Amino acid sequence: MHSDPASVPLTARRNGPLTGRARVPGDKSISIRALILGALTVGETTVSGLLEGEDVLNTAKALQALGARFARTGERAWSIRGVGVGGFAQPAGTLDFGNSGTGCRLTLGAVAGCPITATFDGDASLRSRPMRRVLDPLERIGARAVVSADGRLPLTLKGAHDPMPIVFEPPVPSAQLKSATLLAGLAAPGETVVIEAEATRDHTEKMLTHFGAQVRVEPSGRDGRRITLTGQPELSPRPIAVPADPSSAAFPLIAALVVPGSDIVLQGVMMNPLRTGLLTTLLEMGATIERLDERNEGGEDLADLRVRSGALRGVEVPAARAPSMIDEYPVLAVAAAFAEGTTRMRGLKELRVKESDRLAATADLLRVNGIAADIEGDDLMVHGNGRAAGGGTVTTHMDHRVAMAAIVLGLGSERPVQIDDGTFIATSFPGFVELMRGLGAYLS
Ligand code: S3P
Repeated sequence: MHSDPASVPLTARRNGPLTGRARVPGDKSISIRALILGALTVGETTVSGLLEGEDVLNTAKALQALGARFARTGERAWSIRGVGVGGFAQPAGTLDFGNSGTGCRLTLGAVAGCPITATFDGDASLRSRPMRRVLDPLERIGARAVVSADGRLPLTLKGAHDPMPIVFEPPVPSAQLKSATLLAGLAAPGETVVIEAEATRDHTEKMLTHFGAQVRVEPSGRDGRRITLTGQPELSPRPIAVPADPSSAAFPLIAALVVPGSDIVLQGVMMNPLRTGLLTTLLEMGATIERLDERNEGGEDLADLRVRSGALRGVEVPAARAPSMIDEYPVLAVAAAFAEGTTRMRGLKELRVKESDRLAATADLLRVNGIAADIEGDDLMVHGNGRAAGGGTVTTHMDHRVAMAAIVLGLGSERPVQIDDGTFIATSFPGFVELMRGLGAYLS
C-alpha cells in the first residue's frame, strides 16, 4: 500500500443502477489552449466553462509568471489579459507545471519564440516524461535548451531572438508536439508547416483561426494533415466557451454501460471527430449510446449522450484509431473486462509515456481484480467474460485516468475495488466523486 500520508485512498462498490443527468467539466485540451492563446493575445480574452482542474491552474500560474494576467470572474469564468506574441517577460522563478504534460509542452512552444530564458519543471510523473521530442522542433526554430542527457525535466529553455519558420514532421502522432511547434511558429516570419502522418486533435489550429491567425489545413497522405501557419499574425481577443470534455465523459459513460439497469444523460459533450474514437469503438462493442440534440457551439460539435447499460462484445481496435482516443484506453479496457470475448487494442506505444506507463498500469489494474489481460508488443488484450471479480487494490502511479478507470471497474465488479490514491483525479476532473455519487455510485 501507498505510504504517502497525503494520499487519499478511495473504494468503489456496486450499488443500484446509475441514473440522471450530469455535465462533466470543460475540456482539458481546450482549456489549456484558451489560457495560452489568451496570454499571447493583446487585450482581454474571456473564457466560460473553463476546466478548473490542477493541470489548468498550474498552467495559468506559469503564464502569470510570464506576464499574463488572469482573473476568475465567476464559476468557471475567467478573463485573461495577454501580452502578445513574443511578449512574455523573464519569469522570476521556475515554472512548475505539476502533472500537466500539455501545459508544459505547449508553453515550451510559446516561450520558444520569445527572447527570454525560463526553467520548466513538474511533479515526479511529469519529470519522467520525454521532452526531447518537443525540444527538437523548437531548437530548429532557434531556441536553445539546457536539459539532461535523457531529455527530462527540469530543463531551461532560452527562446529565439530571431525565430525561423520550419517544416516539421512529428516522429510520433502527438497534438502536443504539433501545437508546441505552431505556437513557436507564431513568432517567426513566413510559414511554419507541420505535416502529421496521422491527424491528431485540432484544437490549436481551430483556436488560432478563431483568434484571427491564418491557418491552412490540407489532407496529407492516407490519414494525415498538412498544417500551414502564417507567422506574426495580429491575434484579436475572442470569447471562448469550453465544451464538456469527452475524455472525462468517458468515465461516467462506461460506468453506465457496465452497471446493470443504468440510464444516464451526459450533457454538452464535445463531439470533435478527432476525439470520438471511443464512441466508435463502444458502438462496435454493442453499446447503447444515443447522440441527442446535436449542435455546434463555438466551432465545436456537441451532443447530449444518453447511455444505457447492456451486453458488450470484444472487438479489435485498430492502431489508426489511437490518436482519436489516446486518453481513453484505460477506461475502454474496463469496458472490455465486462464484454464477452477478447478485445485487442492495437498500437498503444504512446501509452507508455503518459502520466504513467499506462499500458502496464492498465493491464495491472485489471489483473489485480481477477481479469485476464496481456500485453503483446504494443497491443493490449483484455479477455472478458461478461463479469469482473474485483476485490483488488490498484496502484494509480500519480495518473488521474488510471485512478478513475479503476473506480469505474469497482462500480460494476462483484467485489469492491480500492485505489491507493484519488488525489490526482483533480488534475482533470475536479468533482468526479460528487458527480458519480449524484448518479447513484457508491464511493467511500
Ligand atoms: C493532448 C494531447 C495528447 C493527450 C493529452 C492532451 C493535447 O497527448 O494524451 O492528454 O491537449 O494536445 P500527445 O500529444 O502527447 O499524444
